[in-house]
Formats: sequence, C-alpha cells, structure tokens
Amino acid sequence: MKKVGIVGWRGMVGSVLMERMEQEKDLELIDATLFSTSLKGEKNNWHPKCSDTVMDSNSIEELKEMDVIITCQGGDYTKEIHPKLRATGWSGHWIDAASAMRMDENATIVLDPVNQKQIVQAIDSGKKDFVGGNCTVSLMLLALGGLFEEGIVEWVSGHTYQAASGAGARNMIELLEQSHFLTSQYVDAKAPGKAALEYEKLVTEAAKSKDMPVDNFGQPLALSLLPWIDVKMENGQSREEWKAQVEANKILGSKEIIPIDGTCVRVASLRCHSQAFTIKLKKDVGIQTIENLIGQHNDWVELVPNNK
Ligand SMILES: NC(=O)c1ccc[n+]([C@@H]2O[C@H](COP(=O)([O-])OP(=O)(O)OC[C@H]3O[C@@H](n4cnc5c(N)ncnc54)[C@H](OP(=O)(O)O)[C@@H]3O)[C@@H](O)[C@H]2O)c1
Repeated sequence: MKKVGIVGWRGMVGSVLMERMEQEKDLELIDATLFSTSLKGEKNNWHPKCSDTVMDSNSIEELKEMDVIITCQGGDYTKEIHPKLRATGWSGHWIDAASAMRMDENATIVLDPVNQKQIVQAIDSGKKDFVGGNCTVSLMLLALGGLFEEGIVEWVSGHTYQAASGAGARNMIELLEQSHFLTSQYVDAKAPGKAALEYEKLVTEAAKSKDMPVDNFGQPLALSLLPWIDVKMENGQSREEWKAQVEANKILGSKEIIPIDGTCVRVASLRCHSQAFTIKLKKDVGIQTIENLIGQHNDWVELVPNNK
C-alpha cells in the first residue's frame, strides 16, 4: 500500500476532502498518515482509518517517508516545504490545493474530466506535482466545458459571488461571529415602531466598531460584500481575477489564449459560490446547441431552466 501523508485535513478543503475520501472508501486503499502544525504528536481521534498519531507537517524527515503527499494547508506552506522536500531527493507525488505552484511548468492543474487527457499524459510522463485549480475557475470550466471543448468561445466576462468558506475555515467561522455580533445589536435595539433605516444605521455603525471581529477578513463581510479577493496584481486586477484567464487556459491547454476577465466578489454566504458569465462565441450556434453542449459535457453539470 502506498504511504500517503495528508496535510491540512482539518481545514476547509481538507475536511471536505476527508469526508469524500471516507464516503468513497479511498482510505482503505492507502496507508494514510495525518500531518498537522497545531496538532502534531496528538493521538488521532478524528479519522480512524489513518495513522494513530498526528505527525508534524513541518518535519521534512517525517514527510519524506511518504510516497504521496496530499496538502490542503495553503500557499505559504507549499512555498516553504515543497522545495526543501524535493531538495532531499524526494521523488514522491505532491498533490496540492494551494495556488502557489499552479502555474509552474512542471505542475499539472487537475480538473477531471475537463483535462483528463493532460492528467493521464502527465502521470505517464513521470510528472510528480499535481494541483487543484482555483474554485471558481474549476466551477466555470465544469459548467462551460462543452463550449470550450467545441472551440467556439472567443472570450468570457465572468463575475463571481464567492462564499466565505473559499477564504478558509477561520474566515467562515469569522463570518458567523460577525453575523452574530451584528444581529445581536439589532435584537438589543428592537422596539415597536422603530424604522428599518434606524436598524440599518445602527448595524452599519456597529460593523465599523472595534468590537466587530475582523481578524481574518480585515473588513466586515456579514450583511455585506467585499468586491476584492486576494492581493493586487501589477496589471491592476485582483489576483483572484487574474487566475481566471491563466489557470483556465492552462487547464484547457489553449494554443491561443482565450481572454477571460471579470470581477470577483466575496459575499456573506457560508459555502455557496455563484458565477455569472457573458460569453462571446465565435459563431452563432443557436440556443439549443448551446444547451446541449453545456448539459451533456460531464457528469457534474446540470442545466436548469432560468426560472424562479
Ligand atoms: N477554501 C476553498 O474553497 C479553496 C478552494 C480551492 C483552493 N483552496 C486553497 O486550498 C488551500 C487550503 O485552503 P482552506 O480553505 O482549506 O484553508 P484553511 O481552512 O484555512 O485550513 C488550512 C489550515 O489552517 C489550520 N487551521 C487553523 N485554525 C483552523 C480551524 N479553526 N479550523 C480548521 N483549520 C484550521 C489547519 O492547519 P493545522 O492542522 O496545521 O493547524 C488547516 O489545515 C489554500 O491554499 C486555499 O487557497 C481553497
């Protein structure tokens, strides 16, 4: 059995992954060891099919015993640990959720079935680094895969409405804390005959107060939205907006770059993302063909009628 180290299993991506691996009985096919920075050395009380003890995510010695490392720990972790591990001569498979390595020449962005051929080729040619795509890029390509595969997309203007969970477990919890803080202001001030605008003013002021929990988002998100995600790129886009074109074209293996741009907005949703697209097609193919191409592309897409 392959020895598989799982780093970041208790984070947002990691906990969804573990749930899925348990459902699919994947853990029965591997010899899985849990790694953590904060829980290293603890007895494993979380996932019975994994190692008895939680190992240290920062220990190169412990990590290099693994044949495969799956990490959902984040970009800073990847940037620090991956080069050190490779420098020891470790030649295992590194499977990552963070964006840090996605655009590296030797890394394959994984989006099965959209680029299944690319993934298989990469495995066959001995590549060892595999990275999951950005969440909204992956969702866009799964949803619109049929149009891209047909080669009829000229450009895409995409707009995202991204949940707090996309920023990590601590951020999702912070959204709950912020919501609790703000709604409790309303509950305390509730009085017969009070105008809606008075409540809005009260809550908006409270959101700006020092008691509002903003350690993770840096800003109030609850009952609001933030039209900026990640750092600023030199070209003026946010990094989240920049990812759409570069990652999508890498996944699609485009010979000619398909321009993709838009606005990425963080909304006060716990886990539900949404996206809207304006798509310029290279030719007029008719709505029925578009619906067929979209609806029949892969098992994950479901075309729903545009009604309430
Ligand atoms: N969230 C998404 O939807 C999404 C989608 C695609 C890609 N990604 C990327 O995947 C990587 C991981 O993202 P993530 O959202 O899973 O990060 P996350 O929830 O912040 O988890 C990362 C690590 O934070 C630590 N942690 C500290 N406090 C925690 C708490 N209260 N609950 C859970 N974990 C806590 C854990 O490490 P220790 O066990 O070592 O303490 C955990 O493994 C990032 O690079 C992200 O950009 C995320």
